[in-house]
Amino acid sequence: MIRTVILKVNCEKPEKPKIKAAADVIRKGGLVAFPTETVYGLGADALNAKAVKRIYEAKKRPLDNPIIVHVATKQEILQLTENIPLKANKLMSIFWPGPLTLVLKASDKVPKAITGGLDTVAVRMPRHNVALALIKESGVPIAAPSANLSGRPSPTTAEHVNQDLDGRIEMILDGGPTNIGVESTVLDVTVDPPIILRPGGTSYEELVKALGQVNIHPAALAEKSVRIAKVPSPGMKHRHYAPRAELVLIEGNIKPTAKKIQQIIDQNKKNGKKVGVLATDETKSMYTADTVKSLGSRADLSSAARSLFRLLREFDEEKVDIIVAEGVPLEGLGLAVMNRLRKASNYRIVKVD
Ligand code: TXA
Ligand code: MG
Repeated sequence: MIRTVILKVNCEKPEKPKIKAAADVIRKGGLVAFPTETVYGLGADALNAKAVKRIYEAKKRPLDNPIIVHVATKQEILQLTENIPLKANKLMSIFWPGPLTLVLKASDKVPKAITGGLDTVAVRMPRHNVALALIKESGVPIAAPSANLSGRPSPTTAEHVNQDLDGRIEMILDGGPTNIGVESTVLDVTVDPPIILRPGGTSYEELVKALGQVNIHPAALAEKSVRIAKVPSPGMKHRHYAPRAELVLIEGNIKPTAKKIQQIIDQNKKNGKKVGVLATDETKSMYTADTVKSLGSRADLSSAARSLFRLLREFDEEKVDIIVAEGVPLEGLGLAVMNRLRKASNYRIVKVD
């Protein structure tokens, strides 16, 4: 057991001594959880293979699942990759700092521990003062997966990090709830047209506007389980975002969806189960269940993204046996939300119309 120190930091103006203390931990090969604009990350010195190994241990993460490297300046990318394609440069100037991770060809300097043995490396520049200050002060790029135990919903508050990793890491920088709430979009730019491996905080529509053509990997849509051999990003094959309760996802038009959800609630109630519903503002009053939570308005999918992981954790705290979730439109951040819900359901998806 390690004693986990929690430091509250000011996101507008991160306090220097606190950032210094955290950077010290990173430089010594330790682990610091820190806020980004998407979710909390679990950081270590990306160029220190031993430190990176500790991330896998703390998270109980499968060793073949590669980790994103976070930088504070474009300069830092040069040591990590052999080649930056023109399109990648364009994306960096439009979207960085921000929730877009680019998969590039890796240089020899990148420890194999980070890439899970692949010849590529994923890089991103987060849009968060605390994250940027920490990377700068550490003087090294920071490897950071989401700061949850592997398979659990990603943390959007320091409290979530503490629930999963207390006693397993040296420090948590608490910068309050994160703004976007789902992880960054992972885009492979080693191929042309680039392909989305994980939808996230930068929407498909924005990427198409910048590049013209962008593909989406079937595993990123996550409509059904994709055969392991066909998956380019090892992270895609592991179960993800899963609350402890079983989750069933209902997709389709709003009226038949609401009807189907109430049927499932009633069935499970009859069997003595505690049932939670993940609804939207437009539908939440339609359901009679043990607990009904709203992702926000269907007209504002960024609010759904912001609250999704928090609500999944809340259902677990309330010890519901089954969560019945309403699908949302696949536009904008809706694609990222649906990817997480489909995976959390382990592909228990009911389509109605
Ligand atoms: O917003 C985010 O991306 C957060 C914050 C902390 O930056 N990080 C995050 O990391 O979500 P993680 O490890 O939970 O998810 C990284 C994803 C995984 O699905 C992994 O398989 C994929 O990115 N990935 C990492 N390196 C890759 C590579 N070289 N090729 C393909 N996929 C890669
Ligand atoms: Mg993760």
